Amino acid sequence: PLLFFSPGRVNLIGEHTDYNGGYVFPCALSLGTYASVRKRNDSLIRFASANFPLRVSSDINNLVYDAEDGWANYMKGVAFQFKMANYEINGADILIEGNLPNGAGLSSSASIELLMGVILNTLFECNIDRREMAIMGRAAENDFVGMNCGVMDQYAVAMGKKDCALLLNCNKITHEYVPLRIDGYKLIISNTNVRHQLASSEYNIRRKESERALKFLKQKYDIQYLCQLAPEQFEADKNMIEDEVARRRAEHAIYENARVLEAVEALKKGNLKRFGVLMNLSHISLRDLYEVTGPELDAMAEEAWKITGVLGSRMTGGGFAGCTVSLVDINSVDEFIREVGKNYQRRTGLTPDFYLADIGDGAKQFFM
Ligand code: GLA
Repeated sequence: PLLFFSPGRVNLIGEHTDYNGGYVFPCALSLGTYASVRKRNDSLIRFASANFPLRVSSDINNLVYDAEDGWANYMKGVAFQFKMANYEINGADILIEGNLPNGAGLSSSASIELLMGVILNTLFECNIDRREMAIMGRAAENDFVGMNCGVMDQYAVAMGKKDCALLLNCNKITHEYVPLRIDGYKLIISNTNVRHQLASSEYNIRRKESERALKFLKQKYDIQYLCQLAPEQFEADKNMIEDEVARRRAEHAIYENARVLEAVEALKKGNLKRFGVLMNLSHISLRDLYEVTGPELDAMAEEAWKITGVLGSRMTGGGFAGCTVSLVDINSVDEFIREVGKNYQRRTGLTPDFYLADIGDGAKQFFM
């Protein structure tokens, strides 16, 4: 069989800016999903996972969303995109196994989408480049699964590079690699271990609210996305946005976008302290203006902020549940895990998990 690996991702700063045409700053994790694959001589794709009992078998010429197919829908959706684009693909047996927590805001779904992209691309020699594959992954999620996400997750999973973060321009869909020079510090991912039923419906509502704000601003500005405006322009014309909720959403997106660029400059200059402050401001804005944090993510961030060796801590991903990411002095890692763990548990009654993030490569064929 052929072996493949596709990572999860953690976003360092720039949340809910991707579909607003702004910048994001994610990196791929060394945690992710592995696949063992063999070609078939017919048109069946069979899916199995070592993590779940579900088994799915679909005909490549008749791919339709089926709620009962669970996680396999993300992979079927990618195969469907290949078919739509007229690539000649055929059957395969695919066994996957992941070490990424599912539904925890670390892009377990983008991980298996790009896993499928790389599998099909390799097996059937389609010659699709990574950028295109990321866009197909997003299309699978938007059109097949019905989650209206932006391009950040699929792009980070497709393009990740060891020890680098990606400054991704989501308007042009282009990126620059930025070496993650954080000597003496670690990135800790803290999992709230809470799942939020409303996450995807609330996500789609935020998108609508952002579009509503954009509509008002378009009366004056010739723009396609909120993040094309600078904070100064927003301040001058924010009263054009008659709806108070939409105005707050726009304020978050536009300032968050500016924070991404400032954070990347700070990182390039080795100013990790400023990078951390911007992470904190990002969380506060997501809490107060975009309203996508919730009590568990807030408790996790607040407890992290109390630790002296923490430069910054914020929610990562779509929000409501999932994980925070914190930039922590190496000498404070044990204290962080002990104290944040204890205090989070006391406040929420939930036991958290902690992972030291290792920044790895994007989805790829894997050789033993
Ligand atoms: C989810 C989506 C991304 C992005 C983030 C928020 O992870 O899949 O496209 O919008 O939320 O930044």
